Amino acid sequence: MARITTSVLKEKKRKGEKITMLTAYDYATAALIDEAGIDVILVGDSLGNVILGYENTLAVTMDDMVHHTKAVVRGVKNAMVVGDMPFLSYHISIPESVRNAGRLIQEAGAQAVKLEGGRERVNVIKAILDAEIPVMGHIGLTPQSVHQFGGFKVQGRDLETAKRLIEDAKALEQAGVFSIVLEGVPAALAKRITAEVSIPTIGIGAGRDCDGQVLVINDMLGFSRGHVPKFVKKFANLHPQMLQAIEAYREEVKVGTFPAEEHCYSVDEEVISKLY
Ligand code: KIV
Repeated sequence: MARITTSVLKEKKRKGEKITMLTAYDYATAALIDEAGIDVILVGDSLGNVILGYENTLAVTMDDMVHHTKAVVRGVKNAMVVGDMPFLSYHISIPESVRNAGRLIQEAGAQAVKLEGGRERVNVIKAILDAEIPVMGHIGLTPQSVHQFGGFKVQGRDLETAKRLIEDAKALEQAGVFSIVLEGVPAALAKRITAEVSIPTIGIGAGRDCDGQVLVINDMLGFSRGHVPKFVKKFANLHPQMLQAIEAYREEVKVGTFPAEEHCYSVDEEVISKLY
């Protein structure tokens, strides 16, 4: 299978073939996702919630993103790896934003970066593109704006915000992004945006008419017991299975049935008898 590039994704939209994307944060999971033939692996700043245990994504740093993106890249042969730009890494100045995007490419080995926001990000996106770094946009319920939105709320439900999202998508397309994530947007609006831009849209909580779909890997595998948003489908329910395995291990260690004979290394008895 050939390496997935931005042109492969654009071609998929042209042909009406759906694009698949999942998040990953470590080598082993990335290798598994790649083996399954997923097109794009996003090292999302959802890292903050699902791996680092923060309440939201705001505390994630560039160093966190570089560290985890490096691990993901080591596990991948075919998928495109997109590194997410964390909060404040592209807000302060254009040179700092380009340098941070460059770290995800040069230090970590990603093929592209993703950043959140619409028309207000056009200048920074153009500067990153000028450095030959492909950019994926992200609009709708952008988690880094959680305080501004007053919570995690679906976006684009009234006429004004719906129009604004269409305009933002067009502004990002005009700026040169190769794809746009639509998060937490009504399905009918996501369908409209998808029809109005020539680049692929990737939906999460944005209905089935986007050009592709993305989910957080921990959510779709049912890794944790907590609440998952309405848009998540659990394709597996790993939490009870993992819990059962860990509890079984605890019991076997306690009663001495693990390790059994087959888990032990042998040595000539003579060696042991001559020790002292
Ligand atoms: O950080 C992330 O995982 C994301 C996806 C939910 C799109 O941005």
